[in-house]
Amino acid sequence: MKAVLVREFGPPESIRVEEFAPPSVGDTQVAVEVHAAGVNYPDLLVMAGKYQILPPRPFIAGKECAGIVIAAGKSVTTCKPGDRVLAWMEYGAFAEQALAEQDNCFVIPQEMPFTEAACFGLVYQTAHFALVARANVKPGEIVLVTGATGGVGLAAVQLAKAFGATVVAAVSTKEKAAIAREQGADHVIDVSVPNLRDGLREQLRAVTGGRGADVVIEQVGGDVFDASLRALAWSARLVVVGFAGGRIAEVKTNYLLVKNIAVMGLQISDYRDQHPALMRRVMNELFELYRQGKVRPLVSVTYPLADFAAAFAAIVERKAIGKLALALKD
Ligand SMILES: NC(=O)c1ccc[n+]([C@@H]2O[C@H](COP(=O)([O-])OP(=O)(O)OC[C@H]3O[C@@H](n4cnc5c(N)ncnc54)[C@H](OP(=O)(O)O)[C@@H]3O)[C@@H](O)[C@H]2O)c1
Repeated sequence: MKAVLVREFGPPESIRVEEFAPPSVGDTQVAVEVHAAGVNYPDLLVMAGKYQILPPRPFIAGKECAGIVIAAGKSVTTCKPGDRVLAWMEYGAFAEQALAEQDNCFVIPQEMPFTEAACFGLVYQTAHFALVARANVKPGEIVLVTGATGGVGLAAVQLAKAFGATVVAAVSTKEKAAIAREQGADHVIDVSVPNLRDGLREQLRAVTGGRGADVVIEQVGGDVFDASLRALAWSARLVVVGFAGGRIAEVKTNYLLVKNIAVMGLQISDYRDQHPALMRRVMNELFELYRQGKVRPLVSVTYPLADFAAAFAAIVERKAIGKLALALKD
C-alpha cells in the first residue's frame, strides 16, 4: 500500500510517499481502508521530530482518518467489517490502510462524507474538552477563540455557539473575519493590529460592553496569549491548547491573583488514552450535534495523498481555512 513514510525527521518536503506493507490487526485493533485523512498542525511537529510523543522510525505520519473497516481483531466490539468509521491514532493515518485501537474507532452517521469524518475527530474532541472538561463553559458566557479559523478554532467557535455562549473570534485577515462570522462567531477581533498588547483588550471590551472574556480557547501562544491574558473578565478561565504562533508564553501570576483567573492546559491524547468511555460519550454527543446541523467541519481543500506536502505548506503559510484533508478514495 502507499503511505507517507517518515524515515528521517524533517519538513514535509523531505518526506516521501512510498510502498509499505499493510498492517495486520491485533486482538483489540481495527484495520481501516482509508478514504480520507485529516491534516493537522501537530502532524508537522511529529514529522519534524518536535512532538511530545515520537514513534520509532520508519513510521507512517497522520493522526486521523475515515474509511471502511476491512478487518477487526477478535476482541473488537465497537465496529465490524463494512462499517463506515472515523479513527484516530498517534500515527499511521496517511496510508491506504490504517490501524486503530477499537477504543479510537467510531461508526459515523450515514450522511457524513468521509472527508468531513476525517476532520471531525481530533479538532472537535479537542475543542469540546477545552470548553467543557477544562473551562466548564456556561450558556451566556463570553468565549474568545484565538486562531479562530483554524481547525481547532472553527470547531471551538461552532461548539461554543452550540453551548449558548457569545463567541468572539480572533483572526488575522478580513477574509478570515468573514469566515468566522459565517461559522457562527458573534463578534470578530483583529490580531494583526500594531499594538496587540492593548489592542486585543480594547477590541474585546468594545464588543463585550467592557466585560472581557469569561473563557479563552487559546491556540496561538506568544503575543496572542499575552494579550488574551490581559483581556479576561473576573473569574475567567484560559485554556492553553497550542502554540501555532511558535513562542511558548510565560504567565505573570499576579494577573491570576488579581482577577481570580485560572490558566489551564489541555492535552487531548491524555483523555483519549486515560478516559476512553468519556471520549466515546463526547464523540456521540458531537455526532448528535452534527445531525442537528449545529457543527460541521469546513473542509476547504482536499489533496491527493501524493500532494500531502502542499497541504502542510498551506498550514505553515497561514493560508489554510478550517480543515484540509487528504482524499484517497471516494
Ligand atoms: N492540546 C491538544 O490536545 C491539541 C490538539 C490539536 C491541536 N493542538 C494545537 O492547537 C494549535 C492549532 O491546531 P490546528 O490544527 O487548529 O492548526 P491550524 O488549523 O493550522 O490553525 C492554527 C491557527 O493559528 C493561527 N496562527 C498561526 N500562526 C499564527 C501567528 N504567528 N500569530 C497569530 N495566529 C497564528 C492561524 O490563524 P491566523 O492566520 O488567522 O492568525 C490559524 O488559524 C496547534 O498549535 C496544535 O498543535 C493541540
